[in-house]
Amino acid sequence: MAKMLNQAPTGNAKLLDWVKSWVDICEPDAVYWCDGSKEEYDRLSNEMVESGLAIRLNPEKRPNSLLFRSDPSDVARVEARTFIASAKQEDAGPTNNWIDPVELKKTMLDLYKGCMHGRTMYVIPFSMGPIGSPIAKIGIEITDSAYVVINMHVMTRVGTKVLEVLGNDEFVPCVHSVGKPLEAGESDNGIWPCAPLDKKYIAHFPETREIWSYGSGYGGNALLGKKCLALRIASVQARDEGWMAEHMLILKLTNPQGETKYVTGAFPSACGKTNLAMLIPTLPGWKVETVGDDISWMKFDAEGNLRAINPEAGFFGVAPGTSMKSNPNAMLSCSKDTIFTNVALTDDGDVWWEGIGYDAPAHLIDWKGNDWTPDMVDADGKPVKAAHPNARFTARANNCPAIAAEWEDPQGVPIAAFLFGGRRPTTLPLVYQSRDWEHGVFIGSTVGSEVTAAALDVKAGTVRRDPFAMLPFCGYHMGDYFKHWLEIGKAGAAKGNLPKIFCVNWFRKSAEGKFMWPGFGDNSRVLAWVFARCAGKGDANETAIGFLPTEESIDLKGLEGEVSADDLKELLKVDVEGWKNELAMIKEHYAKFGAKLPAELTKQLEGLEARLG
Ligand code: GTP
Ligand code: SPV
Ligand code: MN
Repeated sequence: MAKMLNQAPTGNAKLLDWVKSWVDICEPDAVYWCDGSKEEYDRLSNEMVESGLAIRLNPEKRPNSLLFRSDPSDVARVEARTFIASAKQEDAGPTNNWIDPVELKKTMLDLYKGCMHGRTMYVIPFSMGPIGSPIAKIGIEITDSAYVVINMHVMTRVGTKVLEVLGNDEFVPCVHSVGKPLEAGESDNGIWPCAPLDKKYIAHFPETREIWSYGSGYGGNALLGKKCLALRIASVQARDEGWMAEHMLILKLTNPQGETKYVTGAFPSACGKTNLAMLIPTLPGWKVETVGDDISWMKFDAEGNLRAINPEAGFFGVAPGTSMKSNPNAMLSCSKDTIFTNVALTDDGDVWWEGIGYDAPAHLIDWKGNDWTPDMVDADGKPVKAAHPNARFTARANNCPAIAAEWEDPQGVPIAAFLFGGRRPTTLPLVYQSRDWEHGVFIGSTVGSEVTAAALDVKAGTVRRDPFAMLPFCGYHMGDYFKHWLEIGKAGAAKGNLPKIFCVNWFRKSAEGKFMWPGFGDNSRVLAWVFARCAGKGDANETAIGFLPTEESIDLKGLEGEVSADDLKELLKVDVEGWKNELAMIKEHYAKFGAKLPAELTKQLEGLEARLG
């Protein structure tokens, strides 16, 4: 019999029954209902420090912060083990892994049976979005990982208040186990618990709005409010209810005259959302403030404005490459109250990672817990990385100096522009604007990027198509998702103010393999053009691919010597040969969707082909 560590703070019969049924399956030693308090956060943190799973960082360097090292097999999302288990395979579509839900539940129930032996089952009531907001959604995650509990404290709104708002209503049930039962007398011995790859399942049941996750403790695999609920399940709800759940940052842009616009951006994982959301403009007089850095939920209001909320309460940001030069606001966000995972530890109890902006000290403990010195090389003669490339910080949005005052506004902020982009070393210009909404949907549907380290099982270095940056996050058939975007366009056109759509690329490389655009704060120069275009200003040339800025309309003041006039020409030209090659890749990509590819997109493709000549 599991020991009840506290009383269930709810009378919701469905919730109580659901928890009880999982206690019977998982057989935890104890059950604990999370209240979201600081006391709870501190107590669980201390327990993990004592058991050796966490290291408390030097409070003089990083107050109230912890370091975790995950198992080297459990360092990112695992797309090959992520499933959309819709009743019909066709509804999951060609881009998702599918298993029959009845079969999958049977397999997973066998795994869940007794999986929490020796562990506590935590019940986490959480709200995605401000508690009580009409756009917010409530989930309940049960987990046997205290690491998940404290991360959920930062990333979502956790607590008894959520249960009060829930009352007897419906919630999204989320089941999580690290998949490592402990038998009598056994302990983790400070080692990150998880299951082997072939036992990991990140499963979604879209019709019944359920999430079952087994075997991984990392990020999007385990913090089930994030990619599982706020994107995969929410995208299905959004389709059914006429709204949008997108993998997008949200920023507030203010020009020197004090006028503001809100902009969202969908870039694939590890392609610059957090950085753009927190950018410090190098253009004098401009200001960027953060509303969200990863996910945007958007609905039309009565006036026809598309309003966005950030369903999250914190940032699960990529550490490597984050420095006081590239992203000071992220550095300050994680200067205290932060959970670090898989970064390196300094001898004086602070953290270090590649690209932090200063040289590594003479000695570190690397992300695997080994001694590390700067001269170390691997078998291929390459420097050994001290931090894992997908090492992350979990930081509170409220600790971000750039957080916008309205970031928790339950009504959301009105969106003026969508940006799409990825890592494209060739062909794609620095920025261009779509001809209209349908053409913008075409651009979104063809987003591609060089692969990054954010997922474990996709080959780095190759270009893969990641439509709307949603490839790993769309909970249904991608062809139907394209159709949903087209329908939003029709609804918006009838109502009023549709956002303008742009494509950006900060990652063009020269023949020598160097980035041609300085990026980061200098991306404000592109945002300024986007702002102008949304205000009906800003010069552009109409080209085969869309509206490209004239060379004079991108303000390069202060960049002399870094970006020459020739570079800018190159960044803003239509590379006809490159685009013809691109067309061939888009055709291959589109072929996957068969009859589900909306006719409008085929027409867009043909139009582009004809215009390129
Ligand atoms: P997820 O959290 O995985 O969804 O990633 P993200 O889209 O928020 O990416 P993030 O902003 O964390 O950036 C990932 C990596 O891209 C970091 O190493 C950044 O330093 C790098 N990066 C971001 N913006 C730029 C840019 O403008 N130029 C260049 N060259 N690199 C950038
Ligand atoms: C991403 O991969 O897009 C992330 C990190 O934001 S995770 O939460 O692991 O999905
Ligand atoms: Mn992301």
